[in-house]
Amino acid sequence: MARILLGVSGGIAAYKALEFVRLATAAGHAVRVVQTRSSQRFIGTASFAALTGAPVLVSEFEHDPARGAFPGEQPPAHAPLSHLELPARAEVYLIAPASANTIAKLAAGMAEDMLGACALAASCPVLVAPAMNNHMYEHAATQANLETLRERGVEVIGPATGRLASIGEHGAGRLLEPNELLKACEAALARTTTAGTGDPSAHAGAAAGLDAAAPWRKLRVLVTAGGTREPLDSVRFLGNSSSGRMGLALAQAARARGAQVTLIAANVYLPLPAGVACREVGTAAELREACVEEFARCDVLLMAAAVADFRPAAPSATKIKKAASHDLVLELEPTVDVLGELTRSRRAGQTLVGFAAEHGADALRDARRKLIDKGLDAIVVNDISREDIGFDAEDNEVTILTAANGRSWRAGRGEHADGSEAHARLARTTQMTVSKAPKLLVAEAILDVVERLRGG
Ligand code: CTP
Repeated sequence: MARILLGVSGGIAAYKALEFVRLATAAGHAVRVVQTRSSQRFIGTASFAALTGAPVLVSEFEHDPARGAFPGEQPPAHAPLSHLELPARAEVYLIAPASANTIAKLAAGMAEDMLGACALAASCPVLVAPAMNNHMYEHAATQANLETLRERGVEVIGPATGRLASIGEHGAGRLLEPNELLKACEAALARTTTAGTGDPSAHAGAAAGLDAAAPWRKLRVLVTAGGTREPLDSVRFLGNSSSGRMGLALAQAARARGAQVTLIAANVYLPLPAGVACREVGTAAELREACVEEFARCDVLLMAAAVADFRPAAPSATKIKKAASHDLVLELEPTVDVLGELTRSRRAGQTLVGFAAEHGADALRDARRKLIDKGLDAIVVNDISREDIGFDAEDNEVTILTAANGRSWRAGRGEHADGSEAHARLARTTQMTVSKAPKLLVAEAILDVVERLRGG
């Protein structure tokens, strides 16, 4: 369990920070809170102090009765400087909600309050969760400030798109939900551990601008999400149960690492991650058209959409009437294998990842075959016979198969390999399992594999 430092700035969404503290402490994390003065107009320090069981600090010169210790820790014998001790002990620093004003001050490196001073002193991962009116969020100044923070290795999470605080307003600017904030913190902590060190000083480089997200900064990532729907008549369709959660998590995680992300969303009805260009599609043919248009520009393709393999051969323009169709037999025709088609036109430097929802004992063998036949660098397999993971679930558990010689595929060889070469590749695939976790964490693990494949 980790030490989480939470910075709360002013905004209606500050109430969600309370719920975040409740969830984080219930999950066993030790939380300390620093607040800006204006956030106290929304939530008083007493509420955070009661929920964390620790003093809350506001001013940069404030004496900390706990001497920088987190709940459960022994305070040091001396009285350290609070704005240095708290971030030094923290394993992750989350600023949520981050108002436009706080983001501007963070980008300018201002240390006029405890929140800003801690951000400058932090050597752990720093996560900033914006929350504001959509016009303020979209303003060039805010976007430039967020980009500055990203360039320095800060992870910007959200905002989500949806209903905003002021009546009638809708758009990008909603603070992520408390459980999503917690998932993002845990994902950042998991990355620290995966990096092979629990030592927060390993992130000192991030604070100095030498951040781990550098490999993603200039990358263009294309993500497909959701499930296609093939019309049967004017009101019915053949579809599947994909909610798009895995694709959204991938888009959010790639954006947080600094990539330019385009999302092709097939019938996704969940909030879309902010900062991601989105194209909405319905059918497999529409998804194919959008993919073909976007593919050449992308460096990484994450093909998480569940694409229909068949569609009604002659959809009716009107509603099929029961009385007129006693023995209705549907004639289906195959759709194009979009991923297979894209791999044939791949260029050097692209990394292609497919997804396979498989059933039963032969899942890995079948997925390995798809990895080779479709000419992919990696394929992410999940077992759809389990109800607690996969389609429309919050969590996932996957096995990631990689073509051992992934680099050779990136040399611009779009053609399918001849039998013997394919056979040799089949024998050289590698696999790793990501055990059951929230989809955002699984997405981070997939991006780590992509990074390795690209030599990052
Ligand atoms: N895919 C695609 N176009 C299709 C079908 C699938 O691009 N018409 C992509 C999916 O987005 C996924 C990968 O191919 O990334 C594997 O999808 P899957 O349905 O498991 O593979 P299929 O080749 O359709 O094999 P099958 O359904 O027979 O298992």
